[in-house]
Amino acid sequence: MYPPAVFVTLEGPEGAGKSTVAHLLAERLRGGGHKALLTREPGSGEVGSRLRELLLSGEDLDPWTETFLFLADRAHHVRTCLTPALGAGSLVLCDRFTDSTVVYQGHARGLPIETLRELNDHATGGLAPDLTLLFDLDPAIGLARVAAKDRLDRQPLEFHERVRAGFLAEAEREPDRWAVLDASAPIGSVTESAWSALTSRLRQVTLSP
Ligand code: TMP
Repeated sequence: MYPPAVFVTLEGPEGAGKSTVAHLLAERLRGGGHKALLTREPGSGEVGSRLRELLLSGEDLDPWTETFLFLADRAHHVRTCLTPALGAGSLVLCDRFTDSTVVYQGHARGLPIETLRELNDHATGGLAPDLTLLFDLDPAIGLARVAAKDRLDRQPLEFHERVRAGFLAEAEREPDRWAVLDASAPIGSVTESAWSALTSRLRQVTLSP
């Protein structure tokens, strides 16, 4: 039996298929009798939906304005959704979290990365993922898959190349937390790789003292 409260995040560039895989993982966990919550950033709940709209559909934003809106969404999400769900013994799958801020606003936009890590700590109150799945993909392939492009999707290709490199650098920095998946493979096989990374981490957590 898997431990109850495990926090898993899914990260990666645009069009990498992480949201589809997140749904499939949640269904499979529930089918196996586990309590699993699927949620996302930005955009969970009423406050999150309004912030998502401002962030992705609105006018151009200065990088710090953008950052504080993502952090506001996170602070609210952690306190109203993630912490209560983990406290109630749910496994939580979260489509994007702190690493997206470090990568998009830090590696890609150029804001100071260590400051972003500190701001993330304030927003999360110290909540950190047990496992992060990185859906790695050439951004040119990913962007071609995105039909309705939002404000961030429309950034130049070089921006998305920095995003990809940023995620890979973050994964290398903390290899025990990250599992890097080849998201150019067919969705079925990406899902299998994600499932095997997830179940092997769940077994590790079960066996750890
Ligand atoms: P998505 O939910 O469709 O992946 O869109 C979210 C977009 O917001 C995506 O372009 C990544 C971006 N983003 C940031 O730039 N910083 C963040 O902290 C988060 C959570 C997302």
